[in-house]
Amino acid sequence: MQTRVDLKGNANGHAPGGGADEGAQTLGAGVRRRPSSRVAGVGAALPSRTMSNAEIATIVDTSDDWITARTGIRERRIAADGEFTSHLAEAAAKKALEHAGLTPDDIDLVIVATATPDLTFPSTAVLVQGRLGITKGAAFDVGAACSGFVYALSTADALVAAGSASRALVIGAETFSRILDWSDRTTCVLFGDGAGAIVLEATGADGSGRGVMAHALRSDGAHHEKLFVDGGPSTTQTSGHVRMRGQEVFRFAIQATVDVVEAVLDQAGVTAADVDWFVPHQANKRIIDASAKKLGIDPQKVVLTVGGHGNTSAASIPLALAEAQQDGRIKQGDLVLLEALGGGFTWAAALVRW
Ligand code: UT7
Repeated sequence: MQTRVDLKGNANGHAPGGGADEGAQTLGAGVRRRPSSRVAGVGAALPSRTMSNAEIATIVDTSDDWITARTGIRERRIAADGEFTSHLAEAAAKKALEHAGLTPDDIDLVIVATATPDLTFPSTAVLVQGRLGITKGAAFDVGAACSGFVYALSTADALVAAGSASRALVIGAETFSRILDWSDRTTCVLFGDGAGAIVLEATGADGSGRGVMAHALRSDGAHHEKLFVDGGPSTTQTSGHVRMRGQEVFRFAIQATVDVVEAVLDQAGVTAADVDWFVPHQANKRIIDASAKKLGIDPQKVVLTVGGHGNTSAASIPLALAEAQQDGRIKQGDLVLLEALGGGFTWAAALVRW
């Protein structure tokens, strides 16, 4: 029987496994752990249309130099007419299934993290579930803005740990181009469209120690006016645009990162020096550089995709994971640290033995 260890009650964190189970590993500080779920496959999908900084400079008063120097972004992808969040999510999910060597029949949970769903309801996850022909288990969306993927991963891991699901598609998918104010240079230059997905499966009797080792979720709604969409189904303005007080978000992002990252490192009994790959939310290269420095993580261990994708909100982490897995950087057994901050504020981190 699997016993549970809750080392840090205030962390909302999850430290799966523990006790004297067969297959459990001693991973540090004498703490024994056995992850409940592990990554079985990863996939990504990007719209084919690329929009360069030079092209954006024909729309608003900006320049390639400003965008590159302040954010590290060179270009982003923009969804075509008729190409919706669900289409990108479905394409990424199919690639992740293929990579895992699995079929839709093997899946009993679909979670899509998105702030740009196709419809108010049903959820984008249900649309993806239907198109993939999955008829068992559950599908739902998670809304935590740019932190959505880490929230979705944590939720899926918790459901697998509880025995409520055995194999999950965890997807981050966005079409932020649809909610940008294309006359506001302080926001429209920053975002892009795309989707990434992972297959998360129960570790079962696997004693390798691979899998989700810890996660920590946080939010503080006192900050909701610093990054938000100024319209929605229940307000007088039914469709809205992204509004952001960039400098305030910037400062908070760097400070918040450290808090959640330390929580997951603590839960897993490891240190920042043990991390093989830091895969943070890709909002701004300056935020990522400053966070890595503050955490003491070698810049060479940081996966950076913001240059080619812009900020794809909930899609940015799985897109980065897919890239680093495909090019051979992330290998089985590597310790991968995920971290994100988004509107709300919401922020979160997860530690995965790949
Ligand atoms: O994914 C969720 C999390 N989101 C984020 O993490 C975003 C966090 N914030 C940021 O990344 C940065 O704050 C920005 C990239 C949004 C802005 O960079 P900044 O270094 O904080 O610039 P700033 O807002 O202080 O603006 C500096 C100047 C201003 O002009 P003045 O007042 O100095 O004359 C702006 O008006 O840059 C001007 N500016 C621009 N100039 C050219 C603002 N946007 C642009 C632009 N092109 N696109």
